[in-house]
Amino acid sequence: MNKQHNTKLENDLLLRKRAEAFIPGGMWGHMSVKKLPFGYPQFFSKAKDSRIWDLDGNCYIDFMCGYGPNILGYNNADVDQAVNEQRKKLDLGNGPSALVVDLAEKITTLVDSADWALFAKNGTDATTTCLTISRAATGKKKILVAKGSYHGSAPWCTPVATGVVEEDISNLIFFEYNDSASLEDAEKKAGADLAGIILTAFRHDVRKDQELPKKIFLQKAREICDKKNAVLILDDVRAGFRLNRSGSWFDYGVKPDLTAFSKAIGNGYPLSAVVGVDKLKQAASEIYVTGSFWCNATSMAASLKTLSIIEEIDVVAHISYLGNKLRTGIDQIANNFGVEISQSGPSQMPLILFEQDSDFSKGSKFVQYLLNKGVYFHPWHNMFLSLAHTAEDVDMTLDAVEYGMKKISQEF
Ligand SMILES: Cc1ncc(COP(=O)(O)O)c(C=O)c1O
Repeated sequence: MNKQHNTKLENDLLLRKRAEAFIPGGMWGHMSVKKLPFGYPQFFSKAKDSRIWDLDGNCYIDFMCGYGPNILGYNNADVDQAVNEQRKKLDLGNGPSALVVDLAEKITTLVDSADWALFAKNGTDATTTCLTISRAATGKKKILVAKGSYHGSAPWCTPVATGVVEEDISNLIFFEYNDSASLEDAEKKAGADLAGIILTAFRHDVRKDQELPKKIFLQKAREICDKKNAVLILDDVRAGFRLNRSGSWFDYGVKPDLTAFSKAIGNGYPLSAVVGVDKLKQAASEIYVTGSFWCNATSMAASLKTLSIIEEIDVVAHISYLGNKLRTGIDQIANNFGVEISQSGPSQMPLILFEQDSDFSKGSKFVQYLLNKGVYFHPWHNMFLSLAHTAEDVDMTLDAVEYGMKKISQEF
């Protein structure tokens, strides 16, 4: 770990200044650090395994994994080799390489609720395609969406309403995640026009404690879809392959009709997938969705190798073991300093919030102290562990947490 952190981020700030001139807002979307406390570098120079380096030479043990994708760690040698070999042959042609068939076969073998697959680039492509297939299959319009759930940045699902018109969301009906009565109310509002229900794998809304789904709630969603001949969509973009390699609801025994994957599917190489059950294959073949880069072969090579590693190695066991170690250690440290925190969600996708911290002032200070010690946490978004994280990384992180928690106990 880098003990002498250059907390002034001189190079980063210089580049931010240049960026302001040529990039709207200096940076857009979820990777803009403008809303984060000072201390987060905007730009990075390199990454390997569990570590990431900024432009000022600071190295961090990273708990964001690029907001999820790097499930095996940054620059996994096997994945990169598969990509480099494929690149020499073909990346983007007039049609896909044979890998598209290999990958469709692989993902349908791995994922329980998958009889077929098609591929795109981003999670938003996949969730949006799920809606289109649902409407094509049912001939109906209404989609039930949980309030606060993130499904991407297209007009129908962006959390920021600027530039969105009423018509973009007029066929969505909202309900509370994990609240069966609220879901039933939404179903009633949809009447005979219900095309589908979309749900994230668990409740992972930003700035709130995470919640695993109640089995009875997932069963209710399944029951409604069966009764109304509608489509149950699992948005597994964020959680996919971190909770269960067979699909995040596998242990709940609730089978989605369509599942959207992205993030971890290619260990950082851009790819998303829509997988579905047989009865929706015809509808999926009739819609028109595509993109210039959706079929590039290097991403498919990356995904084939990533999924093979996930098949061979119990990645979920590794990251939940380390996540538990981290969570237990943080709880003990917070307890010792009398700092009240809440840790929620699956340990492999941890979220740490401070009690009595509605303005996130404690959380913001805490992550700044961690950044100074070379640990990259997020103050209000769930984090991610990877196969590349080690017990030593967690021990070093807990040393930084000890320092940060002590400071919080003294300052608040
Ligand atoms: C649950 C969920 N769905 C969809 C998306 C959208 O994915 P993308 O940003 O790749 O478009 C995300 C991204 O964070 C997500 O977490």
